[in-house]
Amino acid sequence: MNGHLHPAVDPRALRDAFGAFLTGVTVVTAHDAAGQPVGFTANSFASLSLDPPLLLVCLARTSRNFQTLTGAAGFGVNVLSEHQKDISNTFARPVEDRFAGLDWQPGPHGSPILGGVAAWFDCALHDIVDGGDHVILIGRVEAFENGNANGLGYARGSYFAPALAQKAVAAAAGDVTAGAVAARRDEVLLVEDGQGRYALPACRLSAGANPDRLQLHLAETSGLPASVGFLYSVYQDSKNGEQHIVYRCELGDGAPRAGRFFPLDALPLDRLADSATGDVLKRYVAESRIGNFGMYVGNEERGQVHALVQGAPR
Ligand SMILES: Cc1cc2nc3c(=O)[nH]c(=O)nc-3n(C[C@H](O)[C@H](O)[C@H](O)COP(=O)(O)O)c2cc1C
Repeated sequence: MNGHLHPAVDPRALRDAFGAFLTGVTVVTAHDAAGQPVGFTANSFASLSLDPPLLLVCLARTSRNFQTLTGAAGFGVNVLSEHQKDISNTFARPVEDRFAGLDWQPGPHGSPILGGVAAWFDCALHDIVDGGDHVILIGRVEAFENGNANGLGYARGSYFAPALAQKAVAAAAGDVTAGAVAARRDEVLLVEDGQGRYALPACRLSAGANPDRLQLHLAETSGLPASVGFLYSVYQDSKNGEQHIVYRCELGDGAPRAGRFFPLDALPLDRLADSATGDVLKRYVAESRIGNFGMYVGNEERGQVHALVQGAPR
């Protein structure tokens, strides 16, 4: 299956390491021969040159739109805003008509331009460069617009919205419950609540307290190396008015002191402490699928265990 890969390189481990690089998210668009709009989600966008004005994006050779995009007179790059996560997901899934119900119009050079984006670039195709299982599409910017929306972020297979997160944390005045989607590869750690139901590992934070407290709590509860990542969810419990802040966290290898790891496809969704936890976990499962799918390393089987280098680089 991985016959073309260097044997020493585990594609999944490499993909995970590539995923440490924080990027934005774009939707790259063009028109097919029949004049229908096509597009796909890409985070491989980079600015290339100011004079001449060039940009690049990497396109998988396996893309259903490969012929269309490499044969078109040009393409558009839409930099998604932090409210457009759903659009990113639509353009990363094999959806029949990704433009259905979407606000878009042809740009000055003809590429489909989406509404509400942080910025867009309408390009003439300048060059196509070989890039292994991808090609590099180089576009010459013919027209562009810089909106004022904040961009959507992407790292380690998950979206983040820095400006929204800042606002949400600021709005959660007073004490909050800080929870963790504590993942290790394709599993998450859940803890029992004493009534046979499962919950996210969580601790109370008093107003203004440092979220490092959550890292300590996780490390103590699990007895494993723990790191706290991006903010994942902020919500208020409708029953008791409690504020919840959920972070993405990573746990290291070893048996957990407390709690249990559940594979993402076998979470105890019918035995959760509350429905909000179920919503957070279901979203996490759905987004990890897109993340894995999105990084399109062949058609690798999910659920395989690959060694991950833990701790600090030596
Ligand atoms: C955040 C994210 C970034 C992605 N970046 C790229 C990329 O740079 N290049 C690429 O070819 N596919 C990328 N993908 C995967 C494609 O969006 C996905 O495979 C899509 O289904 C391709 O559609 P197509 O086959 O209709 O072209 C990414 C997916 C996600 C979720």
